[in-house]
Amino acid sequence: MHYLLHGLFGFTMLYKAILSTSIIFMTLLLATQLGCETVGLVDYANMTPEEKLYRAKCGSCHKLRDPKSETDEDWVTYVHEYGEKCTEQQKAIIIAYLQANN
Ligand code: HEC
Repeated sequence: MHYLLHGLFGFTMLYKAILSTSIIFMTLLLATQLGCETVGLVDYANMTPEEKLYRAKCGSCHKLRDPKSETDEDWVTYVHEYGEKCTEQQKAIIIAYLQANN
């Protein structure tokens, strides 16, 4: 009898542990999903190809700089300085995008 109760108790504890673990897991999952929703405010569907290129080429090492943060001339300098992995055509597109939005 004692062993039977002990067994049941062990089973209940295990059940509770699994249950609380999955609740924690679900909460984390939900939090991640909500996080994505917030990031999802960036509207990729309606983004111009120029902006997409800028985001792809200039946002991998640091946060994207606000186009307004630099003058036309400075963007030319920076895009040539940091756009080493871009073709000349891509640099020209990015510069035009930044200059049109500063
Ligand atoms: C290979 C990594 C990398 C990529 C890709 C990159 N940058 Fe940077 N960028 C840096 C580093 C490193 C700094 C200096 C540290 C910092 O400010 O975060 C920097 C700084 C800057 C600055 C601040 C001014 C300065 O010199 O400190 C601007 C503006 C900038 N980057 C623009 C761009 C633009 C525009 C592109 C796309 C053409 C780009 N970056 C792509 C690495 C990169």
